[in-house]
Amino acid sequence: MYDAGKIIVGLVIFLLLITAPVWYNAASGQASYAPHLEIVTDAKACVAPTDYMRTSHMELLNTWRDEVVRHGEREYTAFDGTVYEKSLSNTCMGCHSNKAEFCDRCHDYMAVGRPYCWDCHVEPKGGSQ
Ligand code: HEC
Ligand code: HEC
Ligand code: HEC
Repeated sequence: MYDAGKIIVGLVIFLLLITAPVWYNAASGQASYAPHLEIVTDAKACVAPTDYMRTSHMELLNTWRDEVVRHGEREYTAFDGTVYEKSLSNTCMGCHSNKAEFCDRCHDYMAVGRPYCWDCHVEPKGGSQ
């Protein structure tokens, strides 16, 4: 048969190797560096919990678009019970009106490029690009 101990040691080494960049960043303190994002609204919360927004706002936007365009559903009830219009320009940019110091700054920092949404959707005044 095989030696389970050796396989496990091998797996641990493999995992350490493929996650090495993460450990390296954590150890050098780089992982905690983030661009300074200006929140300009008086609101205390986003339309979903911050962690979720940080990682998944693009999926939420896609869901909103599909629900509006395909089903005509324009109302979104947030986790805290607030009802919002499912709108990129009116809702997201209503609070995050500083696109340059918020959306753009993070996208540039993460090197994910600038979304093409503004070809059609109204960009808040003062936005860069
Ligand atoms: C080619 C033009 C075009 C582009 C590019 C585009 N959209 Fe839209 N989008 C529309 C139109 C037209 C509607 C329907 C507007 C309505 O019915 O209110 C819409 C609706 C939406 C809605 C729901 C209503 C609203 O006003 O926000 C969301 C959310 C949305 N799009 C998100 C996005 C996102 C995110 C991107 C970029 C990844 C994007 N769209 C790119 C044309 C576009
Ligand atoms: C009612 C005002 C409001 C609306 C509407 C709103 N946000 Fe937010 N958003 C906030 C606030 C306030 C925070 C910071 C919350 C905190 O500090 O925990 C935030 C945080 C975020 C974050 C995380 C930032 C970080 O620190 O990493 C992202 C991304 C985000 N919003 C995107 C969006 C998008 C996309 C939309 C539209 C789908 C949207 N927001 C709609 C107020 C809003
Ligand atoms: C905390 C960092 C951060 C902030 C703030 C942020 N984004 Fe993003 N956004 C990202 C990352 C990272 C991606 C790429 C995710 C991927 O490729 O899977 C992304 C992707 C997107 C996409 C999808 C792009 C595409 O072409 O499919 C849209 C749309 C988008 N963001 C809109 C916004 C808007 C609007 C705001 C401001 C209200 C915003 N984002 C603020 C980090 C952020």
